[in-house]
Amino acid sequence: MNISAIPIARGGAAGPGLIDRFGRRVNYLRISITDRCDLRCVYCMSEDMEFLPRARILTLEEIRTVAAAFVGLGVDKIRITGGEPLVRKGAVELLGELGKLAGLRELVLTTNGMRLEQSAADLKTAGVRRLNISLDSLRPDRFRALTRVGDLSTVLRGIDAAVSAGFDRLKLNAVILKHRNHDEVADLAGFAVDKGIDISFIEEMPLGRVDGHDRKESHYPSEAIRADLESRYSLLPTTETTGGPSRYFRIAGTATRVGFISPHSHNFCGNCNRVRLTAEGRLLLCLGNEHSVDLKRVLRAHPGDMERLKKAIAEAMRMKPERHDFDLAAQPVILRHMSATGG
Ligand code: GTP
Ligand code: 5AD
Ligand code: SF4
Repeated sequence: MNISAIPIARGGAAGPGLIDRFGRRVNYLRISITDRCDLRCVYCMSEDMEFLPRARILTLEEIRTVAAAFVGLGVDKIRITGGEPLVRKGAVELLGELGKLAGLRELVLTTNGMRLEQSAADLKTAGVRRLNISLDSLRPDRFRALTRVGDLSTVLRGIDAAVSAGFDRLKLNAVILKHRNHDEVADLAGFAVDKGIDISFIEEMPLGRVDGHDRKESHYPSEAIRADLESRYSLLPTTETTGGPSRYFRIAGTATRVGFISPHSHNFCGNCNRVRLTAEGRLLLCLGNEHSVDLKRVLRAHPGDMERLKKAIAEAMRMKPERHDFDLAAQPVILRHMSATGG
């Protein structure tokens, strides 16, 4: 392939950066640092998930190298995800290393909150600016049922530790499922208001087959979530965006923003700015497609060759599909689980 035909900058904030065939600029990398998790959320995993053996996942050093290559190509936002990123030994140290990359504007993390009580302050020190914390129910029995093994009080203590640590911004993520937690929408928003933090309500996406869980049955559309919220709060539209799939509103009279992530009812692919690195080192060009490039192969075949790695990344942009292929009727469309890609 003729690399000179690919529209990339050498890197740095001033250049055009990584641009795909549809003119979208990719400035945001999501890195799943482990497929493992200490929870087993019913919409995400089967109870008896098999995880990748250690030799198949990228080492922390390899992750740092890929991150540096992306930042060199103009990426200025990195989100660390999992599985649950904080179950990986050395996660906080890795974040500290990434925090030092010149040109990185935002280092952020998505977590289930189970280990936050212990690590919130260290994450802040490492340079993490914002956290997204999953919280699907405020009822202990339900929380346990949805996560199969989770403990609500542990997560609530984690959220308090994060509030005390003084991050720039905290956001809760609530996946809403019909008949499981759809009646808690307004209560979850009320909790976010009390804590002075934001919340996103997420429609479930058909990623991977989960035993005993029918996604057509559990689908609860964002319109219904919004109606539930408006029975208690008044929502003011805002133009704020993270360049992500959330559409944001502000809850009148509060500091809380509410986001709706609606992969089925709204299409946000037109201004997609992100790509994902799986724990295994595959660069995924879209959450809702299987297009990917094996960066682990490049890393291990040519250790230390930064230019080759950057070239592979730049070439991969050509494969970024125009839009996702989610279809509840034809599941499972995407065979990999969310835990492999971090959402
Ligand atoms: P920002 O980085 O601030 O935009 O946060 P975010 O809300 O996108 O990230 P988070 O890791 O908290 O993910 C929340 C939900 O958004 C998860 O369910 C993700 O799977 C989903 N999500 C994030 N990016 C995309 C995307 O490009 N496409 C789709 N369909 N869903 C996405
Ligand atoms: N659909 C939508 N969201 C999901 N998450 C995990 N699996 C799914 C799914 N199938 C959410 C988690 C977490 C975020 C990163 O993704 O609850 O908040
Ligand atoms: Fe773990 Fe997140 Fe999947 Fe729940 S949704 S099992 S917390 S990776």
